[in-house]
Amino acid sequence: MITSRELIKKYLEFFKSKGHVIVPSAPLIPEDDPSALFINSGMHPMARFFLEGRHPLGNRIADVQRCVRTDDIEEVGDATHHTFFEMLGNWSFGDYFKKESIRFSYEFLTKHLNIEPNRLWVTVFAGDEDAPRDDESAKYWQEAGIPKERIFYLGKKDNWWAVGETGPCGPDTEVFYDTAPGRPLKSDSCGPGCDSRFVEIWNNVFMVYDRQADGGLKELPAKNVDTGMGVERVTAVLQGKKDNYRTEVFWPVIEAWAKQSGRGYAADDKRLYRIMADHLRAAFFIIADGVIPSNVMQGYVLRRLIRRALRAGWQVGFGKRFYLPAFEYWYNFYLQTYPEIKECLEKAKQVVAGEEDKFSQTLKRGEKELCKFLNKQKDRVITGKEAFYFYETYGLPLEIVADVVKEMGGKIIERQKFNEAFKQHQQKSRTAAAGMFKGGLASHHPQAVRMHTATHLLQAALRQVLGGKVKQAGSKIDEEKLRFDFTFDRALTKEELRQVEDLVNQKIKEDLPVRWEVVEFEKAKRMGALAFFEHKYDEKVRVYTIGDFSIEVCGGPHVKSTSEVGVFKILKEKSSSAGVRRIYATVETN
Ligand code: ALA
Repeated sequence: MITSRELIKKYLEFFKSKGHVIVPSAPLIPEDDPSALFINSGMHPMARFFLEGRHPLGNRIADVQRCVRTDDIEEVGDATHHTFFEMLGNWSFGDYFKKESIRFSYEFLTKHLNIEPNRLWVTVFAGDEDAPRDDESAKYWQEAGIPKERIFYLGKKDNWWAVGETGPCGPDTEVFYDTAPGRPLKSDSCGPGCDSRFVEIWNNVFMVYDRQADGGLKELPAKNVDTGMGVERVTAVLQGKKDNYRTEVFWPVIEAWAKQSGRGYAADDKRLYRIMADHLRAAFFIIADGVIPSNVMQGYVLRRLIRRALRAGWQVGFGKRFYLPAFEYWYNFYLQTYPEIKECLEKAKQVVAGEEDKFSQTLKRGEKELCKFLNKQKDRVITGKEAFYFYETYGLPLEIVADVVKEMGGKIIERQKFNEAFKQHQQKSRTAAAGMFKGGLASHHPQAVRMHTATHLLQAALRQVLGGKVKQAGSKIDEEKLRFDFTFDRALTKEELRQVEDLVNQKIKEDLPVRWEVVEFEKAKRMGALAFFEHKYDEKVRVYTIGDFSIEVCGGPHVKSTSEVGVFKILKEKSSSAGVRRIYATVETN
């Protein structure tokens, strides 16, 4: 029997033997894509390299990527839906294309996972106004060994994949595993993608387009391949299980719960155990990547996952801290695959316990009030707007209201009204530091302003320590940290990082005045002002000086003197792309 860890090992070894460089999983929070809360696929962190036409580490890459999708959080509870999942993938950046990609897939499935060839079925793109019918892929599948009768042509809904509304996309071909080989089809047209006896196990996308904001398609600089294989699902298939939660990824956790409750994995409780297992595992990884519960963005998703899992646990009859052994299990289970979670176990326990302490007080009251309310309504119908009242007053997220309503045989109507009310509520409380400062300098929030001045100090310090080769290549500021990208051809040593940090802090202590004047751009250049030349400048520009330490063309705003910046701290230094380094730093104030 192949376990999920063995599947990952086999996959990465196979693609390594085919010339792929194995890269580590990116964190769950996207670094370059403010339009998404979480990394949703192995492809997501690669999107920028498809747009650039190359990957800095080579033309063939493979990895296992941790992902979160929260579109159908309410579906979780059945045998196969997850919010967090692992995805295996291999990529070609302008190297191999359809033929090799299909050959690799067939070889790996039949020779390395030993899947009987007669269990494999495929679908290919049927063609439309965006791209032609993919007869090529069908031909390569046939050459590999899949007979014509097991190849189906489907439309965009099934055989097209896009990373988001804009960006890289293209037609795909999907491989399915037949759980009932030999049985006749329900009808000639009801094959994979129609009958649930066929389980999708691999998606090969031919990434050749870049969807524009106006909906049009532009060709990418190269013809690329992007593939994805869901670890949980394929593990279940390989182990002959219909229920993903019966694999070793979840089962030891659920089995222990079922024993503890004394009610087993019975039909009534199944859904609750699955919600607990799925949501807590997702929460563990989201916390490990630095998120804490809040009412905005990733923090809000985390809060919803934790609260729904807690309620499910309480429904089973568990008391406080029931999730601690589960965290221990997943921590040990995943540590080798994701060494970056090493320091995160205690943090995950504490964060969830904190949320539990906060939530347990309001949940009981909220639920009681909600039941009372529903009992008064005809057919126990509640509107989205009314549901929002229960969020605002008792902290019950929409899924929990939905769970209670479902349990009482009622219905939610006008769901979108919940989101509208939620948005309004958020706008009202936007001033809090919990907001996000998109794209760097748009915000004049004091913390953003301090970090902005710190960015200038950082650039000047880098140039003093490392020399004039250092040039800004990008920057971004959010509520917690600043990111600064600069040209430099190697990693910085610990000693260099310490020098840079010390120098910035020294300049903060010197309490240097921050001044600006407006001058002609040409004059600014003569003054030696640094400018980020990817921006277009007007003829007249604003030049900011910090004592005689830093001079930059910049729109501001900044603090008035450097002591306002606080204590500067470098969090991390890493590679950003070839020849470009990235520093994450923050400022702390008392
Ligand atoms: N990016 C493709 C997917 O997620 C492979 O299915």
